[in-house]
Amino acid sequence: MSYPTVIPEFVLRQSFIELDARARAQSLMDPGSWRELVGPFDRIESPWLPEQGIAPQFDDGCVVLKGAIAGKAAVVIALEGGFQAGSMGEVSGAKMAAALDLATRDSQNGKKTVAVLLLETGGVRLQEANLGLNAIAEVMASILALRQHAPVITVIAGTVGCFGGMALAAGLSSYIVMTPEARLGLNGPEVIEQESGIEEFDSSDRALIWAINGGEQRVAMGVADELVLDDAQKIAAIVRSHVEAGLPAVHRSQQVDLYRERIRALDTSRQIDPLTLRETWGGKTTVSKTRKGVTR
Ligand code: COA
Repeated sequence: MSYPTVIPEFVLRQSFIELDARARAQSLMDPGSWRELVGPFDRIESPWLPEQGIAPQFDDGCVVLKGAIAGKAAVVIALEGGFQAGSMGEVSGAKMAAALDLATRDSQNGKKTVAVLLLETGGVRLQEANLGLNAIAEVMASILALRQHAPVITVIAGTVGCFGGMALAAGLSSYIVMTPEARLGLNGPEVIEQESGIEEFDSSDRALIWAINGGEQRVAMGVADELVLDDAQKIAAIVRSHVEAGLPAVHRSQQVDLYRERIRALDTSRQIDPLTLRETWGGKTTVSKTRKGVTR
């Protein structure tokens, strides 16, 4: 007697979250089209970490691949969440800003080059303090310059999420794609608890963290554009669709009046619950035109 073979989709899928930064970047590019810029064999590492007894990494946790996506010139810049929580230091920040600036220069010279940022980051690298802050300011300026010519697409997959100054950088991008496992927020849970106490925010309460910072909430609030399952092929397809769509009519960060109005309408005299925020904010930005729930 023979039995039909049923292989559920989830068994076959390739997890994107389980890939390291380099493999994530490679999985998004047209096969055979890419080369790595300032790779680990160039050994440009942080000069500040060894002085604090921390082993540096030869790529400083930032991977830059130049190649093509959907046949269009592209640069993918991926932060390695497994190294110092993907935090931005002097070197990793310079790599990201320089790669974005090269894409802007190419775009100005007629070769439109899109950028994809894979952000797994705790923000400014605390051990590099002001240099990290400066690096993020440069990255933000570089995103603003490039997005005049070509889309900047941010993917936040997990497990670190995207926090601190890099959440501001993500906010400047043309599109934000998140998985349900991903988190996006300005002050990280650890920092809120440390600064304001456990009554304000319990950083061990995972349900609370994801209700506020999680991908589902962020997309439902309209501050991210696309919720996609942790599947490398599906994430690559979403990125390709945004590359092909080109620039949004209006960038989210240009909608100052809309967000000012929303913040003005918040009643801060009582605790705002995440579901109410979804209902009042959800889906009213102009950039979330492709939003349609989880992409399966
Ligand atoms: N710089 C350097 N190291 C950082 C970092 C940063 N910005 N953010 C996190 N790390 C480190 C943590 O200290 C921890 O190190 P350890 O393993 O040696 O203890 C490691 O990365 C993992 O962080 P952890 O908090 O254990 O993981 P998590 O998944 O529970 O939470 C974050 C990850 C990013 C949400 C959390 O670390 C956090 O809230 N960080 C602060 C983010 C923030 O507000 N940044 C503002 C800076 S501008």
